[in-house]
Order: sequence, then C-alpha cells, then structure tokens
Amino acid sequence: MGFVGGFESKEQVIPNVAVIGATGAVGEVFLRVAEQREFPIQELKLLATSRSAGKKIRFRGAEITVEETSAAALATSDIVFCSATSEASKKWGPIVRSLGTVMIDDGSAYRMDTNVPLVVPEVNGDDLEWHEGIVSIPNCTTTPMVLALHAMKSVATPVRVTAATYQAVTGSGTAAAAELREQIEALGSGEKIAVPKIYSRQIAMNVLPQVDDFDESGYTIEEIKMRNETRKILHQPGLPVAATCVRVPTMVGHAEVVHVEFDHTIELEALYSALSEQTGISISTNPESYATPLESEGNDLTYVGRFRLDPTVPENRGVVFWCVSDNLRKGAATNAIQIAEELIERDLL
Ligand code: A2P
Repeated sequence: MGFVGGFESKEQVIPNVAVIGATGAVGEVFLRVAEQREFPIQELKLLATSRSAGKKIRFRGAEITVEETSAAALATSDIVFCSATSEASKKWGPIVRSLGTVMIDDGSAYRMDTNVPLVVPEVNGDDLEWHEGIVSIPNCTTTPMVLALHAMKSVATPVRVTAATYQAVTGSGTAAAAELREQIEALGSGEKIAVPKIYSRQIAMNVLPQVDDFDESGYTIEEIKMRNETRKILHQPGLPVAATCVRVPTMVGHAEVVHVEFDHTIELEALYSALSEQTGISISTNPESYATPLESEGNDLTYVGRFRLDPTVPENRGVVFWCVSDNLRKGAATNAIQIAEELIERDLL
C-alpha cells in the first residue's frame, strides 16, 4: 500500500503505522487529521477488538479492513497510535516497546511514568529526546490549558492555577455520544429516558460535576490528571493546580475557565502579545468575540478570550480567561500526529 504523504520531498522516513482503536471516536478523527495534514504513511494497519474485525474504513481513497489487535499486526509498524482503553495500552505498550517500535498513547496508563515523555509539541517537544519507546499525550483538558500557560510563561511564571471545565461527551467515547443523542431524541418525542449506562445521571439538559471516578480526597481522577500533567509538561513539579471538571451536554469541544496567579505584576497587553505569538493559539481580546465549543469543532486551534485581571489576587498578579478547543483533535488526534511529525523531524523513530 503506498499511502505516501507530504514529507516525501524532504527525504524523511515514511513510516508503517498502526492505529489501535481505529473504530473509536478519536481513531476516526485521527484518520481524518492524517489525511488533512498529509501525514506520510507507507503501510497502515487499522486495529480494534474482535468485535470490529472485518469492518472496512476508508483512508485516502482506499478501503482498509480492520483487524483484531495482535503482536503480529504490530510487528511491521514503525509508529503505533493507541486510543483505546487503559487495559489495551497496558497490554500493547510493552509489546510495542520490545518490538523496537514507538507507541504514541492517548490514554492515562503511562502519562506519569518517569521514563515516558508527556508531550504537547509546541510546549515541551524537547522531552521527546529521552523517549524509550512510549510517548504519552495529555488529557484533552490539560493540552489547551498548558498551551496557554506556556505562552504566558514568557511574561510571568504561573505560581497558582485554578480551572473549571465544561467537557463534551465525545471525551467519553462513541457510546457516550450515542447516549446523549438518544436522550435528546427521547426528550424531543416525549418518551421516557432510558437508565443511563455511561454517566451516573441524565446528561441531556443537565451538567454533571463529575468526570471519571472520585478518589479519597474528593477530587476526580480527571481533576488529578489536570494537576499532575500540567506540572509534568511545564516542568513545574510543585505548581499548585486545583480543577473542577464538569461534563456538559455538548458533543465536541472542551471549554475551560482558568484563573492564573503569577509571580509578579502583569499587564494584559503583555499576555495578549505572548499569546498572539504562540503557534496553535487563536486569541480574542474583544470580550464579545469569544469562541464556543461549536466554533472549535473541526480545527486544531486553542481559542482563548474573555481576559480579565483577577481582583482577588493582589498587585495585578492574576488573570482569568476562557479557552476552548476540539477535544478529539488538538486534545487527542492532532496532538498525537504532531508528536509523530516531531519524532520524524528529530530522527527519533
Ligand atoms: P471496538 O470498536 O472493536 O470496540 P471509543 O473510545 O470511542 O469507545 O473507542 C474505543 C476504541 O478502542 C474502539 O476502536 C475499540 O474497538 C477499541 N478497543 C477497546 N478495547 C480494546 C482492546 N482491548 N484492544 C484493542 N482495541 C480496543
């Protein structure tokens, strides 16, 4: 199969690629982003569970048959993208590593491992230099926030961060998107809503202050991920971060309100200029022209806006802002492909 993409003229490696979770919400977007970015692929294997084996998926005009994930199917790959379950990542990660291949993992299984880089290429691409066969991508709420914080760090260092999120249901996969759709249809036709299977309560016409399970501290796992991942990516191990993660009845696009306290007095103009220069960010300084999840859908930008000085922080050392990005693209698939592009560029495969 000759799925050659855009890097051909640079005489770079054209990898064999496998996608574990190719039939899932992120897997599907991954293939579209690879097409749009003309990511170079020699041979493509689409993998999932036995439930999906035999299914056909189109990629660059060809029809590819989904296979059950196996060591044999991974053996010829140079890059394995995994967006399935933690169990799948834990099972296939060591196998991929032992095959001398690189796995770019969308799950949380390895994110906090000290020998696994956790990467947003625009922020800490240099961390790819020490990978040992597995690279993790951050949680889809961490990525947009660290991108903005990274840009702001050129003005002043964040010393405290609090965030509240408004997260779309596709963050929980295709079954969650189906659950929201079914509930909306039931409400529209006056039928009784079925007992929810994915979420603890009805999600249509509702918001749930719970994303993932709670730990003994009262925070959810998602909220703890935001804290730990932000610290690791920004190389600020002691940075205090408190998040409240909320599931809302939108399909695509995670939004966040972020409060940042800095080490010294800031001026909004200086933050605007730093954010304007940051690749991957679209900034609005007009309060009325904020972006919403619907506007973020289908592109790779992190939109930031609604900037205000935070009067609860003395000496003008605090700012509050809104950000939103497509959770399936920059929050997952696009970030994974950018990492692969960076690995090729740095000759790290
Ligand atoms: P399948 O479609 O065969 O169940 P989503 O997050 O949208 O629910 O998608 C999850 C994706 O991960 C699907 O492609 C699913 O395949 C795949 N998947 C789930 N468990 C495994 C596993 N143990 N091994 C490989 N792929 C898996």
